[in-house]
Amino acid sequence: MDLWKNYSNEQLLNLKESCGKAYAELKARGLKLDMSRGKPSPDILDMSNGLLGTLSSPISEDGTDARNYGVPTGLAECRRLFSELLGIPEGLIIIGNNASLELMHNFYSRLYLFGTLGNEPWSKLNSVKFLCPSPGYDRHFAVSNAFGTEMIPVTMTEDGPDMDEVEDLVREDDSVKGIWCVPLYSNPQGVVYSDETVRRLAQMKTRAKDFRIFWDNAYGLHHVFGENSIADIFKSAAETGNEDRIYYFFSTSKITFPGGGIGLAAASPANIAEQCKHISVQTIGYDKLNQLRFVRYFKTAENIRRHMSAIGDMLRPKFEIVLNMLESELGGTGLVTWIRPKGGYFIGVDTMEGCAKAVVALAKEAGATLTNAGATFPRGVDPKDTSIRIAPTYPAQDELSSAMRLFCLCVKLVSIDKILSERSA
Ligand SMILES: Cc1ncc(COP(=O)(O)O)c(C=O)c1O
Repeated sequence: MDLWKNYSNEQLLNLKESCGKAYAELKARGLKLDMSRGKPSPDILDMSNGLLGTLSSPISEDGTDARNYGVPTGLAECRRLFSELLGIPEGLIIIGNNASLELMHNFYSRLYLFGTLGNEPWSKLNSVKFLCPSPGYDRHFAVSNAFGTEMIPVTMTEDGPDMDEVEDLVREDDSVKGIWCVPLYSNPQGVVYSDETVRRLAQMKTRAKDFRIFWDNAYGLHHVFGENSIADIFKSAAETGNEDRIYYFFSTSKITFPGGGIGLAAASPANIAEQCKHISVQTIGYDKLNQLRFVRYFKTAENIRRHMSAIGDMLRPKFEIVLNMLESELGGTGLVTWIRPKGGYFIGVDTMEGCAKAVVALAKEAGATLTNAGATFPRGVDPKDTSIRIAPTYPAQDELSSAMRLFCLCVKLVSIDKILSERSA
């Protein structure tokens, strides 16, 4: 297709008329489509229903009664299974409750309340800044925002955060205390951090001694288009003595059930010892029955990988619907750009400047809910108003096709108005 900005006014007005008609027809259908949040669809949840009936005995391998208090870092067999799955020593793993965001919030709040490894609590400092690769995960930014942290957006590239920007920011300013990272299949662009990005993050010189990387490997097993992997950040950090810099998080929310999965944190020996002290005050133990259910159902890391391969097979057609529609309807028009995600749960699309909010609003008016435009930036403010997150996992395939047809029409309609208004300005 040709670049639409080169079309004459007359061509654009003709397109506006035909797109407007198609939009009105879809709107009249009274659609109710939700592409706003990255939730597993009911059929993906059903794949793990076997988990529900696996607890004939509540006694773990070392005789712990999982119904009772105790073992705040998690049952040995559960830590071992995740150790095998993620390649992290089991002694450095803490198993939490049903999901990982709570663990991230806990770790973050402890930095504010207590400080870490002898450093001043962040609440006592005049200024605390956190790097937020954007577009990124809105709930990460919501945690930073809740503590009044100054959030600094960092450009995302196809290799991860722009490391020149990151290194410039951390080198001289000791109030820059950390960074949010989703290294494998980032939310929302599905970007895989390159080995070089991982190495630079792990080994860069930071002015803050208590700089922390919140390494959220939420989509570590969500391969959709081939198996990609990332470099081991713990190993890389250890080469320069920076292993305390890493807080690693993982969960099974999108492997089994977000409402009844398993959240996990891992870190260096010094960090884990410190976290265990805090945890022993906070709880007499997380839900061990849930841990036991998970281990009894999956048994081995290989079985989890097989299960994830089946989930990948279910996600792929949904990603293809979105990507094929973007390509066939908008490819070459210059109205949007997108990075082809390698996996994960989302697709990030960029409109022309100043169009994202209007596209989301127009889609909503016709019954398709997208993630709020701007949500993928700190404080919900996307300075160029271009970023839209598409979450294809929840709707059924036919609903997704309708939603994408509508989305492409909305992009066209909003962009035509933008081009025409710029010409008349
Ligand atoms: C990058 C990222 N991290 C964490 C989460 C939430 O994880 P959990 O369900 O383990 O709290 C999500 C959910 O969408 C996510 O996209």
